Amino acid sequence: MGRVLTGIQSTGRPHMGNILGAILPAIEMANKSSKDSFLFIADLHSLTQIKDPVELKENTFQVAATWLAFGLDPNKTTFYRQSDVTECVELSWYLNCFFPFQRLKLAHSFKDKANRLEDVNSGLFMYPMLMAADILLYDADEIPVGRDQLQHLEMARDVASRINHKVGDLFVLPKPIIQQEAQLIPGTDGEKMSKSRDNIIDLFATDKEIKKNINKNIITDNTPLESPKDPETSTIYNLYKLISSVDESQQMANQLRAGGYGWGHAKKDLINCICEKFAEPKEKFNHFLNNRNEVEDILKEGAVKAKKVAEATLIRVKNGLGYNS
Ligand code: TRP
Repeated sequence: MGRVLTGIQSTGRPHMGNILGAILPAIEMANKSSKDSFLFIADLHSLTQIKDPVELKENTFQVAATWLAFGLDPNKTTFYRQSDVTECVELSWYLNCFFPFQRLKLAHSFKDKANRLEDVNSGLFMYPMLMAADILLYDADEIPVGRDQLQHLEMARDVASRINHKVGDLFVLPKPIIQQEAQLIPGTDGEKMSKSRDNIIDLFATDKEIKKNINKNIITDNTPLESPKDPETSTIYNLYKLISSVDESQQMANQLRAGGYGWGHAKKDLINCICEKFAEPKEKFNHFLNNRNEVEDILKEGAVKAKKVAEATLIRVKNGLGYNS
């Protein structure tokens, strides 16, 4: 039947851009797919960048709680933490020994990070082989990823076929499923929403904080209340359109074009829409904040399921390579 698998970075609490652009579409896909699906938080990869133990743990929790709050069904998707199934680390060693150093040196993401980051550690360099192990360990054949991960997927296929040729068929060759360019979600300044631009909307903030963020950070021009306004160039409208019904967004567009409806009114409608639409996931998220064990238990259960598959693969691989298993 095959297996769909993907890893998610744990770089802290996801914001509205991450949630609308990536998390919600992925959850929808996972919940309706009839394929066996695995989703894990790549917290071993995070150690290449995060060295503060409290931050590392908290980031993983925030990411897990977000996916669960937005409806990921752990009964349908095996949802686990990479660090709970450390078989991937053992497998990555085997893979390393079959993959040419010179090829690893060509990884775009390593070159990019080496130029950008202060901490250029060896883990960063091995990153693609740990990622290949994440995939090959579970005989996954379909890997939904963004375009930036394509080269990593090529390396996973490459190392798998090198081993298959040298010692016999041990691995399923995974293929990337390229996710459509995520919808562009504008931040409060109208540019793509991202933490580094400091323009995010935190959907888990209190209603009061959300209101304050939007009122303060979305800058509007001084077109008088009575004058007609162009919805298409307005960040308020562009955000509203993403979360309201077709009728509601049409109504806002009409009101803006007609005049007599000010930016303040539009902001108020946007704020109400955000607060109402995300009230339920926020409540769930807050519930998890107060009941961290529930998230922990779900991840642990996922890890048990994942580990069963991982152990079987490792036995096959160790035997294939000439080790006792
Ligand atoms: N490197 C991926 C990213 O940055 C995360 C990841 C780790 C991953 N291991 C994976 C994705 C295995 C797919 C399969 O987004």
